[in-house]
Amino acid sequence: MSMRLFVNVDHVATVRQARRTDEPDPVRAAVLAELAGADGITVHLREDRRHIQDRDVRLLLETVRTGVNLELAAAGEILDLACAWRPAQATLVPEKRQEITTEGGLSLEVGEARASLRNAIERLASVGVRTSLFIDPDPDAIRVSADLGADAVELHTGEYANAEGQAREAQLRRLGAGAELARELGLAVHAGHGLTYENVTPVAALTELEELNIGHSVVSRAVLTGMREAVGEMATLIRRARSGA
Ligand code: PXP
Repeated sequence: MSMRLFVNVDHVATVRQARRTDEPDPVRAAVLAELAGADGITVHLREDRRHIQDRDVRLLLETVRTGVNLELAAAGEILDLACAWRPAQATLVPEKRQEITTEGGLSLEVGEARASLRNAIERLASVGVRTSLFIDPDPDAIRVSADLGADAVELHTGEYANAEGQAREAQLRRLGAGAELARELGLAVHAGHGLTYENVTPVAALTELEELNIGHSVVSRAVLTGMREAVGEMATLIRRARSGA
């Protein structure tokens, strides 16, 4: 099975929001990511709109030619927007206002939480949106996801990314076993969070996985690989202003 790379451009918007201006534009970054070989673009429209804005999602849906994976919490206004916008895929994630980033997978133990997820999956499916649940790679969470009628699960790779040595090997086995179980239950299997240039290879080799969602590390690398060209262009403008050329 081949593996798709979905590039998460949230943190391009984070830099823009630091100045509340119009650059860098995550929509332009998405176009470049697609031209470079991304198989899809992921954004998380958070309730507090700390990075991605409604305008970004609307424009991405018009311009992205691969597919938009919209991450969202399973309730409220954002769910209404997702049903109206109809991205190719919606990934339901837990959302806490104070967190720096999504901290863990969805909590599926509580009846109420399950009911709201089931409702969100049904609403999205009724308008043709494929749904994925962002969960920890645990057998119970995977079984519940299948029972809720999701099309896919995204296995949280954060614990793998944070572990070292043998603990990381154990987390990799956990991801592999989770991916296998999910496939057996008929779910498509995605993974993401905390993946970097240093730790992605063993996860990318897990054959049951079909999609990786990677954001922070790619945006961080882009800032550094683009620095030489960006400074060169600015230096040229400044020198030309003085030389009259
Ligand atoms: N998958 C999900 C569900 C996420 O919430 C995030 C972070 O927004 C990612 C993947 C990407 O994580 P990272 O930015 O660490 O690559």
